[in-house]
Amino acid sequence: MRRNKVTVIGAGNVGATVAQRIAEAGLADVVLVDIVEGLPQGKGLDLAQAAPIVGHDARVVGTNDYADSAGSDVVVVTSGLARQPGMSRDDLLTKNAAIVRSVVALAVRHSPNAVLVIVTNPLDAMCHVAMRASGFPRERVLGMAGVLDSARFRTFIAEELRVSVEDAHAFVLGGHGDTMVPLPRYSTVAGIPITELLSPERVQALVERTANGGAEIVALLKTGSAFYAPAAATFEMVDAILRDRKRVLPCAVLLQGEYGVDGLFVGVPVVLGAGGMERVIQIKLSADEQAAFERSAATVRELVDKLPA
Ligand SMILES: NC(=O)c1ccc[n+]([C@@H]2O[C@H](COP(=O)([O-])OP(=O)(O)OC[C@H]3O[C@@H](n4cnc5c(N)ncnc54)[C@H](O)[C@@H]3O)[C@@H](O)[C@H]2O)c1
Repeated sequence: MRRNKVTVIGAGNVGATVAQRIAEAGLADVVLVDIVEGLPQGKGLDLAQAAPIVGHDARVVGTNDYADSAGSDVVVVTSGLARQPGMSRDDLLTKNAAIVRSVVALAVRHSPNAVLVIVTNPLDAMCHVAMRASGFPRERVLGMAGVLDSARFRTFIAEELRVSVEDAHAFVLGGHGDTMVPLPRYSTVAGIPITELLSPERVQALVERTANGGAEIVALLKTGSAFYAPAAATFEMVDAILRDRKRVLPCAVLLQGEYGVDGLFVGVPVVLGAGGMERVIQIKLSADEQAAFERSAATVRELVDKLPA
């Protein structure tokens, strides 16, 4: 039986940790690609040498050559720059758009049937870049953000109510970042909406902490940004695809009229299986929730409009 193959582009913090998770779960062989010579080879070799101890048979290799990534089932894109002091958001947008465009074009030449999972920020805009550069149908271009944002919300709910994270479920829609739209009435502990367990003020405090989840970690780390939870979230999506699990997960997908939005990547719950996104799950939003969703979509639109054609 042929083993699955996943290429992870960008051997930095998120990329290397995703590679480690995939390999150690024995989910697929992993090819780690980076533009820096030696970096992916070194990390690939180091990960491969952990295999006898961890006890898995996945092959891990690092490379600067996309030919080695040929025939991948999933390609994860984490390559990009972090925002440097003095660099505007627009500068970052332009620079990461150029990186994502070039790596996606190279990767899809060798893996024309892959599902793309985009991680690089600004996430929703980078999904647009990846879709244009690949020419793939929307089912095979997915952005990772909602799984991470929901995990952060779940962590804070569980901490607040002193219950297992396993029993805390959260529902987050919208673009990645401070305009995301957590939906408390669909966020539950063992099926009970948190709105019945917490005061509106406490719910609001958890929602705000979730929306600032990335910034809270950046402020603590000083250099670099979160990567353990982002890598775990990316792994969950890759696992759902490769094992055709039909998981219902919030992902950034190109909306075509769903939730009243057309032609934009925004986070919504979708069914993930072997073909990538199998369908968008639509729920009825209240007027306030719909307005928040539209505000979130409008900030994605602003960034997309700034992308070079
Ligand atoms: N979507 C999310 O929720 C989420 C969460 C965390 C991080 N991120 C984003 O993921 C990206 C990676 O974060 P990180 O912490 O791993 O950063 P990092 O700096 O540790 O790693 C980035 C890697 O990309 C590589 N790279 C740059 N240009 C390249 C190119 N042209 N080809 C191949 N590789 C190239 C760099 O050499 C580096 O190794 C960032 O854009 C970050 O903002 C997104």
